[in-house]
Amino acid sequence: MRIAVVGVGHVGLVSAAAFGRWGHDVVGLDDDAAKVATLREGRAWFYEPGLQELLDEVIAAGRLTFTSDPVEAIAGAEVVFACVGTPALPDGSPNLAYLEAVAHTVAEVATGDVLLVEKSTVPASTGRRLEQVIVREQARLGKSHRIEVASNPEFLREGTAVEDTLHPDRVVYGTSSDWARDVLRRVYAPLVAQDGCPVVETDVATSEVIKHASNAFLATRISFINAVARICEQVGADVDVVADGMGHDARIGRSFLSAGLGYGGSCFPKDVDAFAHLARQVGVPFRLLDEVRAINVGQRRLIVDKLRQELWHLDGKTVVLLGAAFKPGTDDLREAPAMYLAEELAAAGADVRIYDPVTSAQVAARLPDVQTHDTVGPALAGAHAAVVCTEWDEVRALTPQDFLNGLAYPIVIDGRNAYDPGVMLAAGLRYHSIGRRSAERQEA
Ligand code: UDX
Repeated sequence: MRIAVVGVGHVGLVSAAAFGRWGHDVVGLDDDAAKVATLREGRAWFYEPGLQELLDEVIAAGRLTFTSDPVEAIAGAEVVFACVGTPALPDGSPNLAYLEAVAHTVAEVATGDVLLVEKSTVPASTGRRLEQVIVREQARLGKSHRIEVASNPEFLREGTAVEDTLHPDRVVYGTSSDWARDVLRRVYAPLVAQDGCPVVETDVATSEVIKHASNAFLATRISFINAVARICEQVGADVDVVADGMGHDARIGRSFLSAGLGYGGSCFPKDVDAFAHLARQVGVPFRLLDEVRAINVGQRRLIVDKLRQELWHLDGKTVVLLGAAFKPGTDDLREAPAMYLAEELAAAGADVRIYDPVTSAQVAARLPDVQTHDTVGPALAGAHAAVVCTEWDEVRALTPQDFLNGLAYPIVIDGRNAYDPGVMLAAGLRYHSIGRRSAERQEA
């Protein structure tokens, strides 16, 4: 099939490469000339395990090309996947202007029947809106091709995006006609034949809600366990063991129950806000999600409180943050808890250092007053306290002795429960983590 993918970000580029692997002819379209130039040289413009190899394979097979020219990409395409950004506006609602622009372009340049598929996360009812835009534009331009809108949400995680796309837990698509459903069946037929993954075929609004509800639910699990962690700290329980104990129940499961300094990234924060916004808009406020968000923000404050407990005031103290990316295995700093923490600590007068094995140049560009390091030894040297923000292997590998040798004061605040509290406390560190045994409880 001839497929156009509009927007070559994390979702768009990985999806385009996967479509190529399944034997389709794919053109990636993006108005960012620099990204297109890099991709035309055959190089991924961001890091994602396995992506470069997959690109090498499908580009060599002649199944994937890139352009900034909408006519080249869309004219002749049977399916257009919209993978453009939907960044949050100040009121929490997503900015759908880029998506609307894709609908305009498709109406303008399509040369035959086209299925326009939303892959970007969008509120329910976006499909209907896009259809209105297309009908109006077609009337204005005097065109009459069949252009329908479908929803086909993406569930890939950064760091495992290629694996998640090539071997998904499920494929979900929502359409409003048999024709549209058959187009998407043909897109995914090679995957379903190989992988046998379940397919959920439904209407457009249901598919849109599946995406929102999935991400909101996962974020809720994280905030739930973080709230439980607060209680564990007060009653002397261990949240990791609590999560294990809960997780053995097949109805609950263990995943997304790791307590820590909260979720970040390009999806959860934005999607929780967008779903809460949609709920308010349709007159059924989803207050649970407001609390999910509040707990998440509170986790960062908790780290600052723990630092204050140990260091008294922060003015003039040097604090080293271990990890900046919102999770290991990615170079993405969007909504990374470490970046918020760095700003809060700097505002309180602390000298902030950040160690991250892959993002230190990006961090330096965003936070010019912060000292950045891509090796951990110099980052620790002489600092008054260390805070674990991202559980990179390099961070997990640190021993109590590394902290004792490097830091000026032996204070470690572990925002990702990366170490064993027994070992850290026995070594003489002032060790705090999230919802587990800590220095002051040890004393008590
Ligand atoms: C997420 C969804 O998992 C994916 O399905 C969707 O398509 C996009 O959003 P991603 O943002 O890549 O993917 O990251 P994910 O691995 O889900 O982690 C999100 C954040 O939650 C990270 O900051 C991570 O550190 C945090 N997290 C995750 C926890 O704090 N505890 C957990 O138990 C799990």
